[in-house]
Amino acid sequence: TESLYKAMEKRGRSFIGTALTIRNETIEETIIQQDFNSITPENAMKWESTEPSQANFTFDGADQIAAFATRNELQLHCHTLVWHSQLPAWVSQGGFDNATLIQVMEDHIAAVAGRYKDVCTRWDVVNEALNEDGTYRESVWYNTIGEAFLPIAFSLAAKYAPDTQLFYNDYNIDLNGAKTDGARRIVELIQSYGVRIDGVGYQAHFTQEATPTAPGPLPEQPDLIEALEKTASLGVEVAYTEIDIRMNTPATAEKLEVQAGIYERVAGACLAVESCIGMTVWGISDKYSWIPETFPGEGAANVWGESYEKKPAYTGFLAGINGE
Ligand code: G3I
Repeated sequence: TESLYKAMEKRGRSFIGTALTIRNETIEETIIQQDFNSITPENAMKWESTEPSQANFTFDGADQIAAFATRNELQLHCHTLVWHSQLPAWVSQGGFDNATLIQVMEDHIAAVAGRYKDVCTRWDVVNEALNEDGTYRESVWYNTIGEAFLPIAFSLAAKYAPDTQLFYNDYNIDLNGAKTDGARRIVELIQSYGVRIDGVGYQAHFTQEATPTAPGPLPEQPDLIEALEKTASLGVEVAYTEIDIRMNTPATAEKLEVQAGIYERVAGACLAVESCIGMTVWGISDKYSWIPETFPGEGAANVWGESYEKKPAYTGFLAGINGE
């Protein structure tokens, strides 16, 4: 029978993954065993989940994800160490000076990356540091430490997770605009410090049509490819890390076909780039998605529908992987 990850391995690439929140849906484990060889914790490893107050580490949810990966022999794409969001107020409003905030960062990375150093295949070390115009986003990290927070975070991750691949991860860098150039500068910055960065994650939260929340239609495949090449040409790996392709709901048969074509286009872009090691979708079923809550009136973005039925997107995604 067909399998997304087996098709990907046949093409000589490493993984097809999904974001995972562990819930009472046993069918998700069955689908993962069939179609995926990687998972990303949707929320369980974020700062607010793992260190809600200073030095108070809570690993129950993250441990469950790690155990799920181990028992199903999956790669684990760990997400995320240093981010401005889902960051508890004790960090974001703590008023720490430069040296103290770096110590706070080190304590967190030592505990979290250290705990999972043997199970994390990859870490999103820093997430979403860029504005849309490619400049650095205002955050407690940037405002306190300056751009050096990036190489510092990667150097700490390398120290505590020496065998894990270290990624920078962001959205809209896949669109081949000013933000893509920003991602390229981040890779160059980290490399200029002599610090290890192994890859760039292109989130790929896409829309299939003009929506109130999307700047414009998704670029054609050559632009997607060029965006990947812009960082890959610096000697790092690239991956699509959070794919979903939303639409104005309700879905129609016609829109689902358009969506299938976009899944194929995105997969084909990865396969066209030699350093593109894998692709992760941001959840399995339309039943659970961050989109309708965040963008009311939009959704139906995933590969499986509300009842865990394969959508046309499955066939499109698989065709893109197979290069048909
Ligand atoms: O933990 C509380 C829970 O106690 C409460 O009962 C529940 C009630 O709504 O809310 C829970 O928190 C929610 C959390 O997910 C866990 O379910 C938050 O409200 C909700 O905002 C949060 O959303 C997550 C979002 O990141 C937060 O930024 C989404 O699930 C998750 O899919 C999304 O993922 C991000 C990536 O990490 C980074 N890239 C963008 C992507 C999509 O936004």
